[in-house]
Amino acid sequence: MKKASNKKKIVIANWKSQPSDINDALKNLELIKKIKIDSKKILPILCPPAIYLEAFNKKYKGTVYKFGSQNISINNDSETTGEINPQMLKNLRVQYSIIGHSDRRILGEDNTIISQKVSNALKNKIIPIVCLGEEKRDRQGEYLRFLENQIKEIFHNIEAKDFQKVVIAYEPVWAIGKNIDVIDTHQLNQTILFIRKILVGIYDRKLGMSVKILYGGSVNLENVKALNTESDIDGFLIGRASTNPHVLKDILKILQEKPEKVKK
Ligand code: PGA
Repeated sequence: MKKASNKKKIVIANWKSQPSDINDALKNLELIKKIKIDSKKILPILCPPAIYLEAFNKKYKGTVYKFGSQNISINNDSETTGEINPQMLKNLRVQYSIIGHSDRRILGEDNTIISQKVSNALKNKIIPIVCLGEEKRDRQGEYLRFLENQIKEIFHNIEAKDFQKVVIAYEPVWAIGKNIDVIDTHQLNQTILFIRKILVGIYDRKLGMSVKILYGGSVNLENVKALNTESDIDGFLIGRASTNPHVLKDILKILQEKPEKVKK
């Protein structure tokens, strides 16, 4: 077993399209504001539906949470129907943006669009949380080529000075929204290392090895401890489990526990 690390963990709460009533969202915000968070151990980022960001901004006082959006516009255009541009997000205290989630890819976003969104976020000083992940695993290792291609197509035009601000969320699509089939920590560590190797090739050793890489895909109360202590990840992107303030509280508690001493 690997030694549990003491490094600060990033925890993204991705609420997707819920709750459907803003009053429930605000109630949840009040509950999660009461969760004890040691900011030396956890960087918590709350990503509610965009339509709630304004109300959340008004309730910002007293929270250690940073805010993130679940999407961002490809440009700063004020003429694009239905889009939310970076300036609007920044006005609502949004510092992060989830980009390239598989839910968005299903709607047609490809690596080219995702790459443009990452550039636009960086240009506007919003930190992109870039989602990567294969749809399925195969024994021949085709999924590794798939991942390599995603990484190269998304980051090829992102300069090193900008890339150092990026956060990556490795989210194997087959593990998202499931109750079973969560990745095992050995598979996870191998894949994280593979992602780092590709990034070392694009940038350099220092950047490739130091970029923050999170894991997302059915993280819950049962598996979070093992994922945290037995893997090399820098945090989690949590969907369903983060929408329940009581579950989120217990997850954050686990992540702030002192690592157990490993017997020699
Ligand atoms: P999940 O969602 O934790 O419900 O699987 C993860 C995600 O938002 O990608």
